[in-house]
Amino acid sequence: EPETREEFSGQLGFILSAIGSAVGLGNIWRFPGVAYENGGGAFMVPYLVALLTAGIPILLLDYAIGHRFRGAAPLAFRRLKRWLEGLGWFQVMICFVIAVYYAVIIAWALSYFVYSFDLSWGDDTAGFFTGSYLQLADVGGADPWFTLDFVSAVLIPLVLVWVATIVVLAAGVAKGVEKVNFIFIPLLFVAFGALVIRSLTLPGATDGLNALFTPDWGAIADPAVWIAAYGQIFFSLSIAFGIMITYASYRKRRANLTSPGLVVAFANSGFEVFAGIGVFAALGFLANQQALAIAELEGISGPILAFVTFPAIVSQMPAGPLFGALFFGSLVMAGFTSLISILQVVSASFQEKFGWTRVQAVIRIGVVAAVISVVGFSTTTGLIALDTVDNWANNIGIVASAVVTTVVVGWILRRTGEMRFHLNSVSTLQVGRWWSFCIIVLGPVVLTYMLVSRIVSLIQDGYEGYAETYLGVAGWGTVVVLLVGAAVLTLMRWRVEPDKFDAWPT
Ligand code: PHE
Ligand code: NA
Repeated sequence: EPETREEFSGQLGFILSAIGSAVGLGNIWRFPGVAYENGGGAFMVPYLVALLTAGIPILLLDYAIGHRFRGAAPLAFRRLKRWLEGLGWFQVMICFVIAVYYAVIIAWALSYFVYSFDLSWGDDTAGFFTGSYLQLADVGGADPWFTLDFVSAVLIPLVLVWVATIVVLAAGVAKGVEKVNFIFIPLLFVAFGALVIRSLTLPGATDGLNALFTPDWGAIADPAVWIAAYGQIFFSLSIAFGIMITYASYRKRRANLTSPGLVVAFANSGFEVFAGIGVFAALGFLANQQALAIAELEGISGPILAFVTFPAIVSQMPAGPLFGALFFGSLVMAGFTSLISILQVVSASFQEKFGWTRVQAVIRIGVVAAVISVVGFSTTTGLIALDTVDNWANNIGIVASAVVTTVVVGWILRRTGEMRFHLNSVSTLQVGRWWSFCIIVLGPVVLTYMLVSRIVSLIQDGYEGYAETYLGVAGWGTVVVLLVGAAVLTLMRWRVEPDKFDAWPT
């Protein structure tokens, strides 16, 4: 007899957990730079259009699939249509691959949380990050592209992150995942809020805000800007890679889905616009201190923003250690709540197909992921591997998964109406025909265009000037791993009769 399904304790636990998954590093270090480089204030137009036409509709589709079919991605898709199980495993593989390197960034943030209490290294934050801390190899120069030279300053916090992840997931959805989000999400909003307010009162803050928000209306005519907007929304909302399907499957049967979806979507976007304000106010301060224009600053997004530019900012601020600790503490909390959400997808999927208990699944998967994480990314070549795998998993993997989901559900199986009926039958706020239109027409068209243009540009221009053979292995190899892993897992035999699980009467 299969156990009855785990459940969130209620609506608030679900909403906080979904926000915990959505609000991650992407909100803090990705959104501000993307907005700045894609039209500033004018970017808000494509961004809002992307949120309303793809972000929220696909988020609700994920909820509908997870809640109606009550399973993590492989089981839920299998119940939708038997041959769709493979799409679920493809999403599980994306989650696994992302988890493996995402944990590394949380480990860096954990180290920097500790380092921020004494900022004596703050004069040369670039040298500190790539030299003293990461001990980055001279790839492309004297050193090979891949080494097994471990860096203990990374390895130790990384092991801690994995232990914490395993412990939380082993405790279960209600007692582990939900509890962590109950504590970390309010704490994150307070800590990060204090940081943003402080940044706004620094000299030069207004210059930063002007740089971020001055609209370049011409950008709206550029398709690349629209792709950037849709890409940001996708990654940021954690949609189309199984997470929201899995989380929604732990909601009670009579559980409102649509209004929580809107709360999650607007909380996530609100947080990132807020982060944009804080980050650019702080960048304005840095430019002011160095007598530079904002446009002359380097490292305004990604790991360099977080681990090089931000430390430079706080080391010039009064009470720098406090604000450094708030910043890196925020990164840890935002990142950890996202990490547990992606690993829950993997763990639940194995429990459901292979009949493993929760603790068995969490320990087995956690240990394998931790080992790959340590070997691949806590070495002197870890940063480059991370950057490459991230680009392929996100820009190709997630978008491909979204294209297949919308095309199959909307066009091939024509099940959008059924999904809309499900959403409306449990929710107070009803979704109209516009929703089906977004899923059936807009989604596939926009997403396919986006996927094709990204593949073409990666083939033509490569990535970051890295060696072609390296990109073949670490970049395209990632796509091969996703596909082969998904195929193998799909073909394996179900150890549990999939229809035995409690599902909605159909
Ligand atoms: N939504 C997250 C963010 O904005 C992305 C993410 C979620 C990444 C879950 C990994 C795991 O950062
Ligand atoms: Na996000």
